Amino acid sequence: MYILGINAYHGNSSAAIIADGRLIAAVEEERFNRVKYAAGFPTAAIHYCLDAAGITLPEVDHIAIPRNPWARIGTKLFYALRMPSFAAERIKVLGQFAGIPEALGKAFDISPREIRARFHRVEHHQAHLASAFFVSPFDEAALLSADGLGDFASTMWGTGQGNRMHIDGSIAFPHSLGMYYTAVSQYLGFRKFGDEYKVMGLAAYGEPVYLEEFRKIVRTNGGVGFRLGLDYFKHHRTGPEMSWRDADKTPELGAMYSDYMAERLGPARDPAAPVEKVHRDGAATLQARLEEVLFEMLRALHARTKQKAVCLAGGVAFNCVANGKIFDETPFERIFVQPAAGDAGLAIGAAYFVHHQILGHPRSFVMENAYWGPGYSPEQVRAAVAASRLRGEGMEISELPEELIAKEAAKEIAAGKILGWFQGRAEWGPRALGNRSIVADPRRPDMKDILNARIKHREMFRPFAPSVLAEATGEYFEKSYPCPFMTQAYSVRPEKREVIPAPTHLDGTGRLQTVTQEANPRYWRLIREFGNITGVPVVLNTSFNDNEPIVCRPEEAIECFLRTKMDVLVLGDILVRKPETAEVQR
Ligand SMILES: [Fe+2]
Repeated sequence: MYILGINAYHGNSSAAIIADGRLIAAVEEERFNRVKYAAGFPTAAIHYCLDAAGITLPEVDHIAIPRNPWARIGTKLFYALRMPSFAAERIKVLGQFAGIPEALGKAFDISPREIRARFHRVEHHQAHLASAFFVSPFDEAALLSADGLGDFASTMWGTGQGNRMHIDGSIAFPHSLGMYYTAVSQYLGFRKFGDEYKVMGLAAYGEPVYLEEFRKIVRTNGGVGFRLGLDYFKHHRTGPEMSWRDADKTPELGAMYSDYMAERLGPARDPAAPVEKVHRDGAATLQARLEEVLFEMLRALHARTKQKAVCLAGGVAFNCVANGKIFDETPFERIFVQPAAGDAGLAIGAAYFVHHQILGHPRSFVMENAYWGPGYSPEQVRAAVAASRLRGEGMEISELPEELIAKEAAKEIAAGKILGWFQGRAEWGPRALGNRSIVADPRRPDMKDILNARIKHREMFRPFAPSVLAEATGEYFEKSYPCPFMTQAYSVRPEKREVIPAPTHLDGTGRLQTVTQEANPRYWRLIREFGNITGVPVVLNTSFNDNEPIVCRPEEAIECFLRTKMDVLVLGDILVRKPETAEVQR
């Protein structure tokens, strides 16, 4: 039985397919159309999922859409009456969703009548919760989803037991931790969609000196809940959902902070102006208050559910800094965050919701790795190399057996070279986890600057991440709880901070990936070989891209390699070295 999950007409549009409860494929549309965070209809992602399952659209039994237009209809009508522009947007969105069978028919060149699947609508946050719990290793767990907004809610919590979730409560618009983080990020001059990551990185460079004020911006009362101090915001007056444009555009958001925020905290930073102490302290306070609120909610959730494990989902669950402190700040002992914790993950969440909660099937699947996207055969990789400009550029190209590839690549990294590492199926979610990664030596204090100068061109305050052999986690980090998807930041042991300075953030933490041989044998071998040479079984890992979505096809990896100042490229069993002359020119 096939269930297709589709996150459409929303940021991070995506598709996923499960067969008898087993995940077959899951991918974001941005990997195909090359538009970061693309909204719109995920035509290419659906095509890929059906190909991976080896079926055609009429063979799909159920189609799960993570959106329920009837959820919180009363609140929606209340705001629609006050804001005509919002009402118009709602009508447009309803029309889009009603037209999904037609959109599918058009994408696959068939009549919508040929689609025999049953359509299911799953509320946004229930899909988020399902995306975490139903693929987690836990038979029971407390559940919390928090994001900007979806189906007019920002937060939902409950308990998962076996193949059921029980929803305990939720928080509706305009109160939202995601919007809080976005609004203050905008105020700090970070106005692009997805910039919240940058502000989380910046937070380590400041002190949370404005906490008293920020406790008025987000208010709590000791329960699982919070309220925004609405004076500081304007999204409740201007409308919440006017940002999802077409598939060929990255979503845009209007300013969400009010003049009152600037009155209380000082003028907002112009995006072109330098980042000063006041902004660093603002970022630190934003993060500190988020953590306070999150931990208060989690403690209350623990008291209500008495669970040892917690599953987190929604965009707020990407806050790896907060996630890394959950073991210290709350009684929870185990945590699971799915690699696509944000809205892309809704595709698998909706599909698993239908499989378990609606159809009642027992649990049978645990997501142990993140490699659910497209993969390419050795022949396809060879063909991509042959058709590329690589040969004309005087590159040294060799095909090596699998054992040798890791050894050779590890030698290059240890010699200070920057490696593009392309293997197997693409990662699901925004993190490169060793299949579409740029890998470098973590021991070199200047490696962060080198990577920024040569390839990534990122702000200096944004950290790079370490990948560590799972068996060496405790040797390098103060916690060793598995973190296969880079969803937690742990403190690097003080004596190891000088050993791996490049991926150690200013606050002494690292947003780590723990790598097991089972989850990714090739990447594990690369790190082990690097460890054999250097004594340090850790590499610096950053996503294989250059201001674009992570590369998906070998052709994109080759283009990125040629365009940037990477030194070495591994594509499956093929190793490519740039000529030394190219290095001299750098
Ligand atoms: Fe969401």
